Amino acid sequence: MSHPPHHKAETDPVTGYETTGHDWNGIRELNTPFPRIVIWALVLTFAYSVVAWVLLPAWPLGRDYTRGLLGLDQGDMAVKGYQRLAAVRADWLDPFADGDFAALADDAALMARAMPAAARLFADNCAACHGAVGTGGPGFPDLADAAWLWGGDPDTIAETLRVGINSPHPDTRMSQMPAFGRDGMLPPDDIAAVADHVMALSSGKADADSPGATLFADNCAACHGEGGAGGLGIGAPVLADDRWIYGGSRESILTTLKEGRQGVMPTWEDRLSAAEINLLALYVARLGEADAGAGQ
Ligand code: HEC
Ligand code: HEC
Repeated sequence: MSHPPHHKAETDPVTGYETTGHDWNGIRELNTPFPRIVIWALVLTFAYSVVAWVLLPAWPLGRDYTRGLLGLDQGDMAVKGYQRLAAVRADWLDPFADGDFAALADDAALMARAMPAAARLFADNCAACHGAVGTGGPGFPDLADAAWLWGGDPDTIAETLRVGINSPHPDTRMSQMPAFGRDGMLPPDDIAAVADHVMALSSGKADADSPGATLFADNCAACHGEGGAGGLGIGAPVLADDRWIYGGSRESILTTLKEGRQGVMPTWEDRLSAAEINLLALYVARLGEADAGAGQ
């Protein structure tokens, strides 16, 4: 640091540093040197940044960026990593594409590999509506029981997943519980009587000679089966059990009868591959089999 010649530099007796020689009313300024380590840190980081600009991707150029001499492209690296993973996955996922369910189910090693992945696929895509273990909830059917709207074999389930139910898919499965009250198909007294009969059916105490039973046979059995046994594969649920999509209280049954119901299951054809759909179909079929084995 230079200072005017007429100022004489002295050494400060306390710190041992020189002063700048400036003197403001007896206050003098120490000429403390800038710490070496900070200078070196600055020099090194600057040198590193120059090396990095040259070697690594650094400067944005509108939609692109400089690649650097090493030519690194992290997008490319991510894609390659994904492709490696996909190749490993294809080993066990590809066999599901042709949907020979009997052969697949017999391949114990393959199933052991695939079922945990199926559970993850279910958690990611289905659990939001059908529950973490497929037991459903209000408005969403239980997939882990032995009663089915459309059918619980893997072929039928795969088709349900592919086209959906009341979905925008051109081949969608279609079903609807008519609005007997709103559309004036049954008078309120009859609706009350048939609602009582449905409650009796679900508790196994139905009286076959009641007016409700006659109304049921005339208006409901075509879709829900004789005595509400269901299983016709046309999308209408079993009514002769104590499991409900919309609720088994007298109130919710009356609402169903007055207003009708039409649940929507999305189509998965665009979102999952054929192999993934078949994998999930086997997984869901097994959920139901476990229940059937337990004898409901
Ligand atoms: C947006 C909510 C929603 C999602 C997500 C959803 N579902 Fe559904 N699913 C439904 C509804 C609602 C029904 C019943 C439609 C009806 O009432 O007719 C249904 C019905 C079904 C059925 C028919 C059951 C039977 O008894 O025949 C199967 C099988 C099924 N879903 C499986 C799945 C699988 C597997 C997934 C994940 C890939 C999935 N669902 C995702 C809402 C959903
Ligand atoms: C055209 C066929 C059809 C007829 C006729 C019909 N239903 Fe339904 N019903 C359905 C379908 C399909 C569903 C399921 C709707 C859904 O899940 O969105 C259903 C659902 C129900 C439910 C709800 C079950 C639950 O688990 O929450 C009840 C209760 C019911 N129907 C009672 C009746 C009664 C009583 C009659 C006669 C008065 C009747 N249905 C006539 C097709 C029919």
